[in-house]
Amino acid sequence: MVSYSVAGQPFCTVLHPEYVRRVLVTDAERYGVWRAEEFGADFASEGVLMTEGDQWRRQRKALQPAFTLDRIRSYAEPMVDFAAETVEEWEDGDRVSLNRDFSALTLRILAKSLFDIDIDIDVAGEGRVVTEAARALNDRADARNLSAYLPIWVPTPANRRYGKRMSRFETLVDGLIDARRAADPEREDLLSLLLDVTNTGNTGDEGGARSGMTDREIRDQLITFLFAGHETTSLALTYAFHCLARYPGKRDRLREELDAELDSDPSVADLPRLTYTEKAVNETLRLYPPAYVIFRQANEDVELGGYEIPAGTRLTLPQFAIQTDERFFDDPDEFRPERWTAEFEADLPDYAHFPFGGGPRHCIGMRFASLELQLALATIARGTDLELLSDPDPDLRMSATLAPVDDIEARVRKR
Ligand code: HEM
Repeated sequence: MVSYSVAGQPFCTVLHPEYVRRVLVTDAERYGVWRAEEFGADFASEGVLMTEGDQWRRQRKALQPAFTLDRIRSYAEPMVDFAAETVEEWEDGDRVSLNRDFSALTLRILAKSLFDIDIDIDVAGEGRVVTEAARALNDRADARNLSAYLPIWVPTPANRRYGKRMSRFETLVDGLIDARRAADPEREDLLSLLLDVTNTGNTGDEGGARSGMTDREIRDQLITFLFAGHETTSLALTYAFHCLARYPGKRDRLREELDAELDSDPSVADLPRLTYTEKAVNETLRLYPPAYVIFRQANEDVELGGYEIPAGTRLTLPQFAIQTDERFFDDPDEFRPERWTAEFEADLPDYAHFPFGGGPRHCIGMRFASLELQLALATIARGTDLELLSDPDPDLRMSATLAPVDDIEARVRKR
């Protein structure tokens, strides 16, 4: 544990899995999340990522039905179809930007599965509004950038861009909600679930508690899911193909498995046999965790690891450090999917690998993301070889996500 202070504000960085478990799981009630305002931005502050207490519990419960195992499995088809389309759209010899193309891919998958929308990813399309807003959020939060330390109303270029792009994004989301309300609120996706919650929910008891969501909450859930659900998986896919291109032996091993086990694009039923594919995903999330640090704040005075942590202290739980710590991983900087044997996992301390967080606030999209990553990785790796054109050791920026500073580019070789 490391403690320090910035401008009088106490901070503490937690670097041991046991203390991560205490913060996220055992003593979860004693810690809160950092509010959006504390980052200097009003980002989806009524969405499930940012709310606390009863409001958070009510929202999480209302959203859960969209993430049951059966529901998640029903999303497999768009996951594979859109990944296959990406491969078809690439021509042999094309120079492509993996992060940009995968961002379009994961956004299409998310929009189709959770909101039943065929999002237009063309230059002037809706997809562009979302990816540009995500990029502006990353620019604003980039720790190398002055804007990260200034309130949102200070008119730095990054703040102005953020304001403009977020307002375009909010208009888009309002349009989606209006269109669904007017057309067909009865569908079975997350958007209908949210709207239905409002329409039929218990509209309040004496304490003012509502199981339904306000219009603001619905809008902020859409913003939260469109961001949290596409940017993270897009980065994971980018880093997976980056690692496979850097380590041709591992790529060949993956290819052998796919050739041996699949006659056509993969389905959910094939996944139990695609063990190396799953390990490659795990290993990518270890080395390049898209959500690279978890933020918490002590709600009260707490004891942690023998230290007294005063109320108000901000804690950071960095996956990128713990998941590459040689106390838990041999050759921690090497991409070695085969390390993920059953014995290794049994011996690994809980929370030495926690790309999706843990405890009551663990990632609600974890199973969605795992399924998407395995299916997309298998579909794309079956159809192509991607030769890395960018720096094998890319510069990364610690912004809202762990994103590459420059595009990660590759040459497509069709198989
Ligand atoms: C590789 C992909 C992903 C990674 C690495 C990831 C990581 C995380 C992490 C670490 C948290 C916990 C944050 C905290 O404790 O403060 C989280 C929360 C969350 N994630 Fe993900 N995520 C991924 C994909 C997704 C997807 C696909 C969705 C939606 C479909 C999603 C939606 C959310 C939401 C809504 C929360 C907030 C949960 C809450 O506070 O109750 N994520 N994610």
